Amino acid sequence: METTSDLRIKLGSLQLKNPLVLASGVMGTSPALLERMALSGAGAVTSKSCGPVNRKGHPNPVVIEWEHGLINAVGLTNPGAEEEVGLLLQAKEKLLPLDVLLFASIFAGTVEEFSQVASTIVKAHPDLIEVNISCPNVRDDFGLPFAADAKSAGEVTRAVKTQAGEIPVAVKLAPNVPNIGRIALAVEEAGADAITAVNTMPGMVIDADAARPVLHNRMGGISGPALKPIALRCVAEIADSVHIPIIGTGGVLTGRDAVEMILAGATAVGVGSALWYRGSEAFTLIQDEMRAYMQEHDIHSIDELIGKAF
Ligand SMILES: Cc1cc2nc3c(=O)[nH]c(=O)nc-3n(C[C@H](O)[C@H](O)[C@H](O)COP(=O)(O)O)c2cc1C
Repeated sequence: METTSDLRIKLGSLQLKNPLVLASGVMGTSPALLERMALSGAGAVTSKSCGPVNRKGHPNPVVIEWEHGLINAVGLTNPGAEEEVGLLLQAKEKLLPLDVLLFASIFAGTVEEFSQVASTIVKAHPDLIEVNISCPNVRDDFGLPFAADAKSAGEVTRAVKTQAGEIPVAVKLAPNVPNIGRIALAVEEAGADAITAVNTMPGMVIDADAARPVLHNRMGGISGPALKPIALRCVAEIADSVHIPIIGTGGVLTGRDAVEMILAGATAVGVGSALWYRGSEAFTLIQDEMRAYMQEHDIHSIDELIGKAF
């Protein structure tokens, strides 16, 4: 049967040839790896979060598979914003002929630092800046992440938007907050063009035989299948609270998972841990499975699916 299903989407002002976005951090920022993800079918790729200065990250082991997903504590390894610009420029050159967009992820410890990192990263002309606010606010008395507080999430958004100029800004939210809709509304009011939801869920996995946590850092972020129902709930609550588009991320391994994320209210779909489970073919496989679902249900475009679970 000839396929008529169209996977193209509009994410605000951006056009993507399909809704699948490589999630930040899973493949680092190596231009060659980002190109490989583009060649294997991503509509856009996100670089690993980059901060103001070089960071080595945590000692190994930093990523472990357990029964229901992955747990990681990489520790935001990155070369610092100045060096990142060179990598992003190289990546952009490789992605342009493939019609795949480059999203640059940034993090920082204060609002001023976010502003400084954004002003450096714009020199690489990414197609979008993704703001990872799951990092601790060093000015908060308890080191609470920016993502946990509507006021500081809004302040970071405003600071990055001021530097970003014409480049759209997506703010990436954390799942472990009591009211994610409120945080989403705060970043929308502060000018965010999109929301990425969600980052990993804090957790811990213990090896009973070794009688110790599996990660050197003891605690880490849960991703993969265990995160999917949490991410779907977050996306649905955000879609209920704001009008800007959502990049639904968390536990998408198959085309059906991607469709569920869109039915919950996402426009684009982040793909991270799937690369661990299904290899670099994940993007092609997920797209084929989405097309099969669309044919089976007589759906011709992604637009017909967005938010349709409600
Ligand atoms: C090894 C690893 C490293 C990650 N590094 C980052 C990062 O640097 N910045 C970020 O915003 N999210 C990071 N994430 C979170 C992912 O981008 C994504 O939000 C999360 O893994 C949920 O999606 P998934 O279940 O498809 O993996 C990382 C996840 C993993 C597994």
